[in-house]
Amino acid sequence: MIHLTIHHIGYLVKKINQAIDEFERLGYTAVSETVYDDFRKVHICFMEKDGYRIELVSPADSESVVAGLLKKYKNSPYHICYETPALEADLKALAVEGFTAIDTPTPAPALSGRRVVFLMNRFLGMIELLETVSLP
Ligand code: NI
Repeated sequence: MIHLTIHHIGYLVKKINQAIDEFERLGYTAVSETVYDDFRKVHICFMEKDGYRIELVSPADSESVVAGLLKKYKNSPYHICYETPALEADLKALAVEGFTAIDTPTPAPALSGRRVVFLMNRFLGMIELLETVSLP
């Protein structure tokens, strides 16, 4: 049993402030501050339009895990993130279905420290899982 709901589409951008301005011109609204993720060396800002949520991701330096991706793909969407209340169980279930974890569940500072993990699939490319945390 896999329990995924779509949380956001990750979008690589070279210059995050300029990208925010351009998305605002298209009618998106920033719904977070621009946050620095020290684990992944990226700047992140969430924006929304028409019920869709996007995550702008910009490498902070050449050591960033996404610096290579940006060179390859330029400014473009690059992952869909799925939220799950059962992170470990879904990781196991997806492994059986051909999704290989490329890192281990790590807190995401831009998402209140909730854990995320990235997986690769030979036919779909990269996806992200985000742990649902119920608020007390
Ligand atoms: Ni993401």
